[in-house]
Amino acid sequence: MLMKIPFFNNKKSKESLHYTQDTQDNTPDHVAIIMDGNGRWASKRGMPRVAGHKEGLSAVVKIVKAAVKCQVKILTMYTFSTENWKRPKPEIDFIMKLPKEFLDIYLPDIIANNVRIEVIGNMKELPAYTREAVQYAIDSTRDNDGLQLNIALNYGSRHEILHAMKEMLADINNAKLSLDQVDEQQFSRYLYTAGMTNPDLLIRTGGEKRLSNFLLWQLAYTEFCFTDVLWPDFSENEFMDALEEYRQRKRRYGGI
Ligand code: FPP
Repeated sequence: MLMKIPFFNNKKSKESLHYTQDTQDNTPDHVAIIMDGNGRWASKRGMPRVAGHKEGLSAVVKIVKAAVKCQVKILTMYTFSTENWKRPKPEIDFIMKLPKEFLDIYLPDIIANNVRIEVIGNMKELPAYTREAVQYAIDSTRDNDGLQLNIALNYGSRHEILHAMKEMLADINNAKLSLDQVDEQQFSRYLYTAGMTNPDLLIRTGGEKRLSNFLLWQLAYTEFCFTDVLWPDFSENEFMDALEEYRQRKRRYGGI
């Protein structure tokens, strides 16, 4: 099906963008992205690291648009990890302001394009301005059934698994659940990603080849695509290339 859709009317440039929706077989339903390389992008240009994060936000806009265009169902973006609190406070403060900045500009377009915002991670520890902005976006997009955009904020997979285990044990202690009922599916219901399919494709930009405590349970059978491109330079074309690489992969899930 080919269909013209208006998308992300960028108020800064006052330019209305039009995209053609693109349906192809074997497009991954769920794409997860580790957006790495912002600091290096800035350093290479003699700019402060935060300039890389700012430019990284522009790449987020491009890739969300591309995901809508390709009819990806879920896009999960690693925005701030539980380990990122070790960074200098001014950098943390800058990153924490980006979700609000993004939503202040783009929430109307996100709503108009049927995108649903979710957050995975511990929202309680976020600064109030970040928590309130994302909570407002979650509430305003709750009924949308197009692309689900998961913002991984204060997310750490080990923390998520421990938290899930504690919640599940509490339910067992309160006789809401019996030990016999515990299986992989049941456990998954206690994770931040409850009800979502596991990622089909993981993209990591910035040249490193590690998972950095991201979705360790959920990535068990995910296809990985690593690229040296630094996140601020990651373009729609590179995203399309990753989807194409995924389409060529044979997924066997341990079978033959
Ligand atoms: C990693 O690069 C990047 C981050 C820790 C922040 C990423 C956040 C954004 C791009 C904004 C996302 C916003 C929304 C609303 C989804 P790095 O700083 O570790 O780069 P380096 O490895 O070159 O130092």
